[in-house]
Amino acid sequence: MQRTVWYLAAAGVSGALLVTIDASARTTPRQPPAPRRPAAAAAAAGGFAGSEACRKCHAPTYERWKRTRMANVVRDPRTHPDAIIPDLSAPNPLVTFKAGDIALVYGSKWKQRYFTRIGDDYYAFPAQWDVAHRQWRPYFAAAGTDWWTAHYPPDNMKRPTGPLCDGCHSVNYDIATKQVTEWNVGCEKCHGPGAAHVAAPARTNIVNPARLDTVRANDTCIQCHSQGQPLTNPIRGQYYDWPVGFHQGLDLKAFWKLEDHTLGQTTFTHYADGTAHKNRMQGNDFVTSLMYARGVTCFSCHDVHGTANNADLIKPASVVCLTCHGPASPNGPHAATIEQHTHHRAGSPGSECVSCHMPKIEQEMGDVMVRSHTFRFVPPSVSETSKVPNACVACHTDKTNAWAATALASWPEFSPWRVGQ
Ligand code: HEC
Ligand code: HEC
Ligand code: HEC
Ligand code: HEC
Ligand code: HEC
Ligand code: HEC
Ligand code: HEC
Ligand code: HEC
Repeated sequence: MQRTVWYLAAAGVSGALLVTIDASARTTPRQPPAPRRPAAAAAAAGGFAGSEACRKCHAPTYERWKRTRMANVVRDPRTHPDAIIPDLSAPNPLVTFKAGDIALVYGSKWKQRYFTRIGDDYYAFPAQWDVAHRQWRPYFAAAGTDWWTAHYPPDNMKRPTGPLCDGCHSVNYDIATKQVTEWNVGCEKCHGPGAAHVAAPARTNIVNPARLDTVRANDTCIQCHSQGQPLTNPIRGQYYDWPVGFHQGLDLKAFWKLEDHTLGQTTFTHYADGTAHKNRMQGNDFVTSLMYARGVTCFSCHDVHGTANNADLIKPASVVCLTCHGPASPNGPHAATIEQHTHHRAGSPGSECVSCHMPKIEQEMGDVMVRSHTFRFVPPSVSETSKVPNACVACHTDKTNAWAATALASWPEFSPWRVGQ
């Protein structure tokens, strides 16, 4: 039996779609049809073209993007000798390699790691540079830390970066040939395969994340900014730590699951209250936020093509929240003035939204932390029970959780049932 059903497609994508459903095959025609997949069509028509191919027609975007960190996370020291931050000639027992042994340099903001090439794979040397403290630290994932340590020998030179890293630092890493279209976060990592679009530019043969539904829009970033595992592992005998087979235009959840967490447990990836514990978990955090549920996306705050602000923010961290928030906004905070909400002088660090709602508590390395993206305020009382750091004592380093809890309890705007107990 056939039934004809009209579905309204996502706003802005197109008008309405007329689809025919075979009701004998599917009794509950509740699932909307798969959205048109311009990227899949593009893949069939020629696949990936490389960012350089976009330059001709999108020159201003290309030039901005080219200077971002995402466009420069992986560099070859033969073409970019300046990529190596530390002085490798200064003796250090951790540093067992010379500049000439380095095939690729990874990272520049928080930490830098160094890869050597053996056969057709890359391997990370067991030392990393801590950018903030200007010092070497060992680099080795110990047993019982990351999930994959159980599947690899305890030796960096037996842990190839292909399965463990490269899918997130390149475009179109091919697990069979170990080749990439390009290193770094190129245009097509977020826009899908672009060869057909390059040949005949149209809006229908390239993905624009701004016109995807909110889940898929955020998946543009979550494909890399998350801790998770492929749905099936091992793949061809090896354990992968990135969403093998996914590219923009496909459905991330068919390839990738976010790391599980049981409330009450402190793990490698999570604090006991469910906040991320590690870096690269902006996606794990953000999906728990009310903002995610309301359709806010990573790119509501970040312009990944590059801006003058830290972390490619559309406005500096001190004011970006005020794009949508303020005392008069239905989005909150629900107080007469910002000061009344924050109890700190307007314009001072203690009054910045990010200070309390995005504390730096997620570990890159050692004591180098990045900001949480749950946007939840962690009450000092929860710090006591769950060992998750809170913003108050992270800034008031000479004070205790009990001091912060008492101060907070005296601020009448906040519910004692949420923050006081
Ligand atoms: C030959 C010129 C040309 C090249 C090369 C080109 N584009 Fe485009 N692109 C266009 C034009 C023209 C449009 C606007 C199409 C329209 O509005 O109908 C466009 C639109 C877009 C859009 C917006 C689509 C939308 O839904 O609004 C994105 C994203 C995009 N291009 C990305 C890329 C990427 C990524 C590459 C490289 C793989 C690339 N383009 C290469 C000409 C080009
Ligand atoms: C890390 C992901 C990412 C990368 C890399 C990226 N983009 Fe985008 N791009 C986005 C997102 C998200 C949007 C939609 C939001 C926006 O407009 O900022 C977008 C929007 C666009 C648009 C349509 C909006 C406009 O400004 O006209 C074009 C064109 C575009 N990108 C081209 C490019 C090109 C060319 C490159 C490479 C030089 C590139 N992008 C690299 C994520 C990315
Ligand atoms: C291919 C994987 C990948 C994708 C897709 C991706 N990122 Fe990234 N992102 C990275 C890597 C790797 C870095 C680290 C770059 C570095 O430090 O050199 C990074 C860094 C960043 C930074 C910090 C930049 C800085 O200068 O401090 C921001 C912000 C960011 N990404 C946001 C996004 C957003 C938003 C999206 C989606 C629109 C996105 N990323 C998509 C891999 C990715
Ligand atoms: C699932 C995707 C993914 C995998 C797998 C992955 N990374 Fe990353 N990496 C990222 C993202 C996203 C960032 C930036 C965000 C952050 O650190 O919070 C990043 C950041 C980094 C940085 C810091 C960059 C800087 O400027 O300080 C280094 C170094 C790095 N990764 C190396 C590695 C190595 C080595 C591996 C494999 C052992 C690996 N990554 C595996 C996505 C990934
Ligand atoms: C509501 C705004 C907002 C949203 C949504 C958002 N971010 Fe951020 N993000 C920020 C701010 C603010 C910072 C801090 C930058 C600073 O300290 O200067 C930041 C920092 C970062 C950094 C740099 C690491 C750090 O903490 O310094 C990365 C990477 C990042 N965001 C990725 C993402 C990704 C991926 C998503 C979506 C899963 C996302 N962000 C969603 C506001 C946002
Ligand atoms: C693009 C608009 C936008 C931006 C930018 C934005 N927000 Fe939001 N925010 C929202 C919306 C929408 C809601 C949900 C309001 C509602 O439905 O009650 C929200 C809700 C919140 C909530 C309440 C969440 C809860 O679980 O009760 C907090 C806290 C918050 N935002 C913090 C921030 C911070 C901090 C920043 C800056 C880093 C920021 N927001 C930037 C749109 C935004
Ligand atoms: C000194 C710490 C602090 C600062 C700074 C701060 N907040 Fe809050 N915020 C809180 C606390 C505490 C709560 C209550 C948390 C709860 O109920 O779970 C809260 C709750 C909220 C809520 C949800 C309740 C409501 O009133 O709507 C929003 C939205 C919010 N904050 C937005 C912001 C924005 C936007 C900024 C920057 C202008 C900001 N906050 C700055 C501590 C702070
Ligand atoms: C980013 C830093 C920062 C954060 C986060 C922060 N404060 Fe403050 N706080 C300050 C500074 C700086 C002052 C000094 C007065 C001023 O500039 O407003 C202050 C002053 C105070 C005072 C009055 C003076 C005193 O020391 O007795 C109290 C009480 C207080 N903060 C409590 C809190 C509580 C509770 C939280 C968490 C909800 C918090 N603060 C979060 C920086 C911060």
